[in-house]
Amino acid sequence: MTTSLLIRGGTVVNADREFKADVLSIDGRIAAVGEDAAKNAPANAQALDAGGQYILPGGIDPHTHMQLPFMGTVAADDFFTGTAAGLAGGTTSIIDFVIPNPQQPLMEAFRMWREWAQKSAADYGFHVAVTWWSEEVSRDMGLLVKEEGVNTFKHFMAYKNAIMCDDETLVNSFKRSLELGAMPTVHAENGELVFLLQKEVAKMGITGPEGHPLSRPPMVEGEAANRAIAIADVLGVPIYIVHVSCIEAADAIARARARGQRVYGEVLAGHLLIDDSVYRDPDFAKAAAYVMSPPFRPKGHQEALWRGLQSGQLHTTATDHCVFCAPQKAAGRNDFTKIPNGCGGIEERMAVIWDAGVNAGRLTPSEFVAVTSANAAKLFNIYPRKGSISVGADADLVLWDPQGTKTISARTQHSKVDFNVFEGRKVRGIPSYTVSQGKVVYAKGELRAEAGKGRYIKRPAFGANFQAMALRSQDLAPSAVARAEPAMKSAAAAD
Ligand code: URP
Ligand code: ZN
Ligand code: ZN
Repeated sequence: MTTSLLIRGGTVVNADREFKADVLSIDGRIAAVGEDAAKNAPANAQALDAGGQYILPGGIDPHTHMQLPFMGTVAADDFFTGTAAGLAGGTTSIIDFVIPNPQQPLMEAFRMWREWAQKSAADYGFHVAVTWWSEEVSRDMGLLVKEEGVNTFKHFMAYKNAIMCDDETLVNSFKRSLELGAMPTVHAENGELVFLLQKEVAKMGITGPEGHPLSRPPMVEGEAANRAIAIADVLGVPIYIVHVSCIEAADAIARARARGQRVYGEVLAGHLLIDDSVYRDPDFAKAAAYVMSPPFRPKGHQEALWRGLQSGQLHTTATDHCVFCAPQKAAGRNDFTKIPNGCGGIEERMAVIWDAGVNAGRLTPSEFVAVTSANAAKLFNIYPRKGSISVGADADLVLWDPQGTKTISARTQHSKVDFNVFEGRKVRGIPSYTVSQGKVVYAKGELRAEAGKGRYIKRPAFGANFQAMALRSQDLAPSAVARAEPAMKSAAAAD
């Protein structure tokens, strides 16, 4: 039986423009967008009134960790509870991370994560982390790209003695990514420096959460961002830097882009709005709840991140949703290096960015769509199926009530975690309805998420031009040599 939904009387907002239109979805896809969409609606179509509201593409959170086994425990939100919380906040797709243990085959880890994600309530994809290097890893990267719809590989430059990659792995994996038409991504923090500083901070007798930011200062992130960007430049491969949290990393990206390098940056909702004073809370549980990496920064960094989004030097917003309850965080009561790293935000991202972005005049509604869905869809090669309200796209939509208000609290959130990093923040601009695959899954406070309804979304490899740089700054990069070869051959023939 056909299922159809007609949303009437709203203002459609895409990344390129906003306009008054009705939106018709049939069987999970957008069938018509326009003032006369109703004419094509089946008689039994469900109707939603969007008067006074915006109709936005469903949010894409390109950085989450549902049920991640990490630092001796497992993240508290699984693929159902985490994606359900996302739907309540207007996020209809996530890209999570497969993180193999060093020496674990990538394909084995990928299959495990695919299994865990079966219960997802929203659509999802995977970045796959490269945590070690061998011929087998190289082969599995090929399988993942060619057969499994993975077009991004993640590299942790931090977490020494766990999942950190050394430069050898970075170089090999970046090069292989380029061959495959996949984009490398990095968690940019110098893990050796963090390791050393953690010991120095402990020697000073600091064992509480206030030691966490001291052991991970902004330059530790700046160094790693610059190094990853330099490696990518030499090899001629585009690169995406996750959770850019500070001026040092944002500047590294801006400088590289000014040289013509394809470098992309992601910002977390938390880093835009929360500063490092949270680590000085004398209540261990509260301070520990904010322990994540990179840490929250002194206030001045926030404005730089906003400016990055406004100027187009930073591209996407995410949450790094990776939640641990108080008893899990308590593992680091006497040693901050043992506090499981991670915070939440999947349900709040859209509302806090709207409130501090659009209401504050930093972003237009279209720019909001760009940084909450469209740019991620484009960068990860699922546009316009995701991130756009257009005929043929998936009917993943949010009716956004710009006058609706809410005070964020752990007491009312849908995530299973016992804390909310945005606790007490009042926001104006909230979803009234969320539609996933053409079905209403959230309606004015009522969550109708269903386990298993989310689909794995394959992301194809990038096309041939992916390898080209806008302007090369390294003449001898392999891609430059390959490009020069035909010209050199014809010059030789002409001689
Ligand atoms: O602290 C964080 N961010 N935890 C999740 C793993 C990561 O680094 O992204
Ligand atoms: Zn990270
Ligand atoms: Zn992460």
